[in-house]
Amino acid sequence: MNTNQPDWASIAEKFDLWIPHIAPVGEILLDALQAKAGDRIIDLGSGTGEPALTLARRMQGKVDITGIDSAEPMAAVAQRKVEEEKLKNIRFQAMPAEKLEFEDNSFDRALSRFGVMLFEDPLQGSREIHRVLKPGGRFAIAVWSTPKTMPTLHWSYQAFRDRIPDELAPPLARVTSLGAPGVLEDLLQQAGFRGFEVRAHTFHYQFSSFDDYWDTVEASDILKQQYDALPDSERASIRDEVALFAKDFHTENGLVIPHEYLVACGHK
Ligand SMILES: C[S@@+](CC[C@H](N)C(=O)[O-])C[C@H]1O[C@@H](n2cnc3c(N)ncnc32)[C@H](O)[C@@H]1O
Repeated sequence: MNTNQPDWASIAEKFDLWIPHIAPVGEILLDALQAKAGDRIIDLGSGTGEPALTLARRMQGKVDITGIDSAEPMAAVAQRKVEEEKLKNIRFQAMPAEKLEFEDNSFDRALSRFGVMLFEDPLQGSREIHRVLKPGGRFAIAVWSTPKTMPTLHWSYQAFRDRIPDELAPPLARVTSLGAPGVLEDLLQQAGFRGFEVRAHTFHYQFSSFDDYWDTVEASDILKQQYDALPDSERASIRDEVALFAKDFHTENGLVIPHEYLVACGHK
Protein backbone atom coordinates (compact mmCIF):
# COMPACT_ATOMS: atom_id res chain seq x y z
CA MET A 1 0.00 0.00 0.00
CA ASN A 2 1.18 3.52 -0.72
CA THR A 3 1.89 4.90 2.75
CA ASN A 4 3.26 8.18 1.59
CA GLN A 5 1.27 10.35 3.97
CA PRO A 6 2.27 13.97 4.55
CA ASP A 7 5.30 14.65 6.71
CA TRP A 8 3.17 15.74 9.67
CA ALA A 9 6.15 17.06 11.61
CA SER A 10 7.16 19.48 8.89
CA ILE A 11 3.64 20.80 8.22
CA ALA A 12 2.60 21.17 11.87
CA GLU A 13 2.65 24.97 11.73
CA LYS A 14 0.41 24.95 8.65
CA PHE A 15 -2.14 22.29 9.55
CA ASP A 16 -4.48 24.79 11.21
CA LEU A 17 -5.50 25.95 7.73
CA TRP A 18 -7.70 22.82 7.65
CA ILE A 19 -9.10 22.99 11.16
CA PRO A 20 -12.17 25.22 10.50
CA HIS A 21 -13.10 22.98 7.57
CA ILE A 22 -13.20 19.77 9.60
CA ALA A 23 -14.79 21.31 12.69
CA PRO A 24 -18.20 19.66 11.97
CA VAL A 25 -16.54 16.25 12.31
CA GLY A 26 -15.27 17.28 15.74
CA GLU A 27 -18.81 18.18 16.82
CA ILE A 28 -20.14 14.76 15.79
CA LEU A 29 -17.27 13.04 17.62
CA LEU A 30 -17.72 15.05 20.81
CA ASP A 31 -21.45 14.23 20.76
CA ALA A 32 -20.60 10.54 20.41
CA LEU A 33 -17.97 10.72 23.15
CA GLN A 34 -20.48 11.90 25.81
CA ALA A 35 -17.79 13.29 28.13
CA LYS A 36 -18.85 14.14 31.65
CA ALA A 37 -17.29 15.98 34.56
CA GLY A 38 -14.50 14.01 36.21
CA ASP A 39 -13.59 12.06 33.06
CA ARG A 40 -10.00 11.36 32.13
CA ILE A 41 -9.81 11.57 28.33
CA ILE A 42 -7.20 10.72 25.69
CA ASP A 43 -7.15 12.15 22.14
CA LEU A 44 -4.98 10.08 19.78
CA GLY A 45 -3.25 11.55 16.74
CA SER A 46 -4.25 14.88 18.24
CA GLY A 47 -2.42 17.00 15.66
CA THR A 48 -2.66 20.72 16.44
CA GLY A 49 -5.12 19.98 19.25
CA GLU A 50 -8.63 19.64 17.89
CA PRO A 51 -11.17 18.48 18.93
CA ALA A 52 -9.54 18.07 22.36
CA LEU A 53 -9.09 21.83 22.80
CA THR A 54 -12.76 22.52 22.04
CA LEU A 55 -13.74 19.97 24.66
CA ALA A 56 -11.36 21.53 27.20
CA ARG A 57 -12.82 25.01 26.57
CA ARG A 58 -16.36 23.70 27.00
CA MET A 59 -15.70 21.66 30.12
CA GLN A 60 -13.53 24.38 31.74
CA GLY A 61 -11.18 22.19 33.72
CA LYS A 62 -13.88 19.67 34.72
CA VAL A 63 -12.26 16.93 32.64
CA ASP A 64 -8.62 15.94 32.35
CA ILE A 65 -7.39 15.60 28.75
CA THR A 66 -4.17 14.22 27.29
CA GLY A 67 -3.51 14.51 23.58
CA ILE A 68 -0.81 12.38 22.00
CA ASP A 69 0.72 12.58 18.55
CA SER A 70 3.75 10.81 17.10
CA ALA A 71 4.89 14.07 15.46
CA GLU A 72 6.56 16.15 18.16
CA PRO A 73 5.98 19.48 16.33
CA MET A 74 2.25 18.73 16.18
CA ALA A 75 2.12 18.20 19.96
CA ALA A 76 4.16 21.39 20.40
CA VAL A 77 1.69 23.49 18.37
CA ALA A 78 -1.21 22.10 20.42
CA GLN A 79 0.61 22.64 23.71
CA ARG A 80 1.36 26.25 22.73
CA LYS A 81 -2.39 26.86 22.45
CA VAL A 82 -2.94 25.39 25.92
CA GLU A 83 -0.42 27.84 27.33
CA GLU A 84 -1.63 30.86 25.34
CA GLU A 85 -5.21 30.26 26.45
CA LYS A 86 -4.19 29.18 29.96
CA LEU A 87 -6.42 26.13 29.63
CA LYS A 88 -6.54 23.87 32.65
CA ASN A 89 -6.20 20.09 32.86
CA ILE A 90 -5.12 19.52 29.29
CA ARG A 91 -1.71 18.71 27.82
CA PHE A 92 -0.24 17.37 24.58
CA GLN A 93 2.67 14.98 24.35
CA ALA A 94 4.69 13.38 21.58
CA MET A 95 3.99 9.63 21.69
CA PRO A 96 3.12 6.94 19.13
CA ALA A 97 -0.39 5.51 19.50
CA GLU A 98 1.11 2.03 19.17
CA LYS A 99 3.07 2.38 22.41
CA LEU A 100 1.12 4.45 24.91
CA GLU A 101 2.98 5.29 28.08
CA PHE A 102 -0.11 4.90 30.26
CA GLU A 103 -1.26 2.22 32.67
CA ASP A 104 -3.97 -0.25 31.71
CA ASN A 105 -7.51 0.99 32.49
CA SER A 106 -6.54 4.61 32.99
CA PHE A 107 -8.95 6.63 30.80
CA ASP A 108 -12.75 7.07 30.86
CA ARG A 109 -12.93 8.25 27.25
CA ALA A 110 -10.79 7.97 24.10
CA LEU A 111 -11.21 9.89 20.87
CA SER A 112 -9.42 10.25 17.58
CA ARG A 113 -10.31 12.37 14.59
CA PHE A 114 -8.77 11.13 11.35
CA GLY A 115 -5.86 9.51 13.18
CA VAL A 116 -6.34 5.74 13.35
CA MET A 117 -6.02 4.90 9.63
CA LEU A 118 -2.77 6.88 9.55
CA PHE A 119 -1.16 5.05 12.44
CA GLU A 120 1.79 3.01 11.29
CA ASP A 121 0.00 0.00 12.78
CA PRO A 122 -3.73 0.74 13.14
CA LEU A 123 -4.43 -2.59 14.88
CA GLN A 124 -1.72 -2.11 17.50
CA GLY A 125 -2.90 1.49 18.03
CA SER A 126 -6.48 0.27 18.49
CA ARG A 127 -5.31 -2.42 20.93
CA GLU A 128 -3.61 0.32 22.90
CA ILE A 129 -6.84 2.34 22.97
CA HIS A 130 -8.60 -0.73 24.33
CA ARG A 131 -5.85 -1.37 26.87
CA VAL A 132 -5.78 2.14 28.37
CA LEU A 133 -9.58 2.51 28.54
CA LYS A 134 -11.20 1.58 31.83
CA PRO A 135 -13.77 -1.23 31.69
CA GLY A 136 -16.95 0.51 30.47
CA GLY A 137 -14.86 3.41 29.14
CA ARG A 138 -16.20 4.97 25.94
CA PHE A 139 -14.44 5.63 22.64
CA ALA A 140 -15.36 7.68 19.57
CA ILE A 141 -13.18 7.69 16.48
CA ALA A 142 -13.58 9.14 13.01
CA VAL A 143 -11.91 7.72 9.89
CA TRP A 144 -12.32 8.62 6.24
CA SER A 145 -14.65 6.48 4.13
CA THR A 146 -13.95 5.08 0.62
CA PRO A 147 -11.91 6.79 -2.13
CA LYS A 148 -14.97 7.67 -4.22
CA THR A 149 -16.60 9.45 -1.26
CA MET A 150 -13.50 11.56 -0.64
CA PRO A 151 -13.41 13.78 -3.73
CA THR A 152 -10.62 16.19 -2.82
CA LEU A 153 -7.97 13.53 -2.21
CA HIS A 154 -9.28 11.49 -5.11
CA TRP A 155 -8.87 14.47 -7.46
CA SER A 156 -5.30 15.09 -6.31
CA TYR A 157 -4.54 11.40 -6.63
CA GLN A 158 -5.80 11.33 -10.21
CA ALA A 159 -3.99 14.53 -11.18
CA PHE A 160 -0.62 13.42 -9.80
CA ARG A 161 -0.90 9.71 -10.54
CA ASP A 162 0.57 9.67 -14.03
CA ARG A 163 3.09 12.42 -13.40
CA ILE A 164 5.13 11.13 -10.47
CA PRO A 165 6.33 7.69 -9.31
CA ASP A 166 3.67 5.46 -7.74
CA GLU A 167 5.30 5.44 -4.33
CA LEU A 168 5.02 9.24 -4.16
CA ALA A 169 1.38 9.49 -5.24
CA PRO A 170 -1.07 11.09 -2.77
CA PRO A 171 -1.84 8.47 -0.08
CA LEU A 172 -5.39 7.72 -1.14
CA ALA A 173 -5.17 4.02 -0.25
CA ARG A 174 -3.82 4.66 3.25
CA VAL A 175 -6.23 7.49 4.05
CA THR A 176 -9.23 5.40 2.99
CA SER A 177 -7.89 2.06 4.25
CA LEU A 178 -10.54 1.69 6.98
CA GLY A 179 -13.42 3.03 4.90
CA ALA A 180 -14.68 -0.06 3.06
CA PRO A 181 -17.67 -1.89 4.58
CA GLY A 182 -16.66 -4.06 7.53
CA VAL A 183 -12.99 -3.07 7.72
CA LEU A 184 -13.22 -0.74 10.70
CA GLU A 185 -15.56 -3.20 12.45
CA ASP A 186 -12.98 -6.00 11.98
CA LEU A 187 -10.17 -3.84 13.28
CA LEU A 188 -12.08 -2.86 16.41
CA GLN A 189 -13.17 -6.45 17.04
CA GLN A 190 -9.58 -7.64 16.76
CA ALA A 191 -8.57 -4.87 19.16
CA GLY A 192 -11.00 -6.30 21.71
CA PHE A 193 -14.05 -4.05 21.37
CA ARG A 194 -17.57 -5.52 21.26
CA GLY A 195 -21.02 -4.07 20.82
CA PHE A 196 -19.90 -0.80 19.20
CA GLU A 197 -21.60 0.99 16.33
CA VAL A 198 -20.16 2.35 13.07
CA ARG A 199 -22.11 4.97 11.15
CA ALA A 200 -21.39 6.90 7.96
CA HIS A 201 -21.66 10.70 8.05
CA THR A 202 -21.16 13.41 5.47
CA PHE A 203 -19.73 16.88 5.91
CA HIS A 204 -19.00 19.53 3.29
CA TYR A 205 -15.76 21.32 2.63
CA GLN A 206 -16.76 24.88 1.82
CA PHE A 207 -14.54 27.37 -0.01
CA SER A 208 -15.45 30.69 -1.60
CA SER A 209 -14.01 29.52 -4.93
CA PHE A 210 -11.78 26.88 -6.49
CA ASP A 211 -8.80 29.22 -6.11
CA ASP A 212 -9.58 29.59 -2.41
CA TYR A 213 -9.55 25.80 -2.12
CA TRP A 214 -6.37 25.17 -4.09
CA ASP A 215 -4.54 28.07 -2.37
CA THR A 216 -5.27 26.27 0.92
CA VAL A 217 -3.94 22.99 -0.47
CA GLU A 218 -0.73 24.68 -1.61
CA ALA A 219 -0.27 26.90 1.47
CA SER A 220 -0.76 23.96 3.86
CA ASP A 221 1.95 21.92 2.08
CA ILE A 222 -0.32 18.88 2.43
CA LEU A 223 0.88 17.76 -1.05
CA LYS A 224 4.48 18.95 -0.63
CA GLN A 225 6.01 15.54 -1.36
CA GLN A 226 4.01 15.28 -4.55
CA TYR A 227 4.92 18.80 -5.69
CA ASP A 228 8.58 18.20 -4.86
CA ALA A 229 8.56 15.15 -7.17
CA LEU A 230 6.84 17.02 -10.00
CA PRO A 231 8.70 18.70 -12.87
CA ASP A 232 8.17 22.50 -12.62
CA SER A 233 6.59 22.52 -16.06
CA GLU A 234 3.72 20.37 -14.71
CA ARG A 235 2.70 22.50 -11.71
CA ALA A 236 0.09 24.56 -13.50
CA SER A 237 -1.42 21.50 -15.16
CA ILE A 238 -2.14 19.94 -11.75
CA ARG A 239 -4.15 22.98 -10.71
CA ASP A 240 -5.99 23.04 -14.05
CA GLU A 241 -6.79 19.35 -13.91
CA VAL A 242 -8.12 19.48 -10.35
CA ALA A 243 -10.17 22.57 -11.30
CA LEU A 244 -11.85 20.46 -13.98
CA PHE A 245 -12.73 17.73 -11.46
CA ALA A 246 -14.11 20.42 -9.15
CA LYS A 247 -16.33 22.07 -11.71
CA ASP A 248 -19.46 20.13 -10.74
CA PHE A 249 -19.20 21.33 -7.15
CA HIS A 250 -19.64 25.07 -7.71
CA THR A 251 -22.77 26.39 -6.02
CA GLU A 252 -24.18 29.82 -5.20
CA ASN A 253 -22.34 29.42 -1.88
CA GLY A 254 -18.98 28.81 -3.54
CA LEU A 255 -17.24 25.47 -3.85
CA VAL A 256 -19.05 22.90 -1.70
CA ILE A 257 -17.62 19.38 -1.65
CA PRO A 258 -19.27 16.53 0.27
CA HIS A 259 -17.01 14.03 2.06
CA GLU A 260 -18.04 10.85 3.78
CA TYR A 261 -16.45 9.60 6.98
CA LEU A 262 -17.22 6.88 9.49
CA VAL A 263 -17.69 7.32 13.21
CA ALA A 264 -17.25 4.30 15.46
CA CYS A 265 -18.28 4.55 19.08
CA GLY A 266 -18.92 2.20 21.92
CA HIS A 267 -17.58 0.95 25.23
CA LYS A 268 -14.74 -1.29 26.35
C1 LIG B 1 -5.01 14.07 9.74
S1 LIG B 1 -4.08 14.51 11.15
C2 LIG B 1 -5.41 14.75 12.31
C3 LIG B 1 -5.05 15.64 13.47
C4 LIG B 1 -6.18 15.94 14.45
N1 LIG B 1 -6.70 14.73 15.05
C5 LIG B 1 -7.30 16.69 13.77
O1 LIG B 1 -8.33 16.06 13.47
O2 LIG B 1 -7.16 17.89 13.51
C6 LIG B 1 -3.40 12.96 11.66
C7 LIG B 1 -2.45 13.06 12.83
O3 LIG B 1 -2.12 11.71 13.24
C8 LIG B 1 -0.77 11.72 13.65
N2 LIG B 1 -0.24 10.35 13.61
C9 LIG B 1 0.10 9.60 12.54
N3 LIG B 1 0.56 8.40 12.92
C10 LIG B 1 0.51 8.38 14.26
C11 LIG B 1 0.85 7.40 15.25
N4 LIG B 1 1.33 6.21 14.89
N5 LIG B 1 0.67 7.71 16.55
C12 LIG B 1 0.17 8.91 16.91
N6 LIG B 1 -0.16 9.88 16.02
C13 LIG B 1 0.00 9.61 14.72
C14 LIG B 1 -0.09 12.66 12.67
O4 LIG B 1 1.16 13.11 13.16
C15 LIG B 1 -1.13 13.76 12.53
O5 LIG B 1 -0.92 14.80 13.45
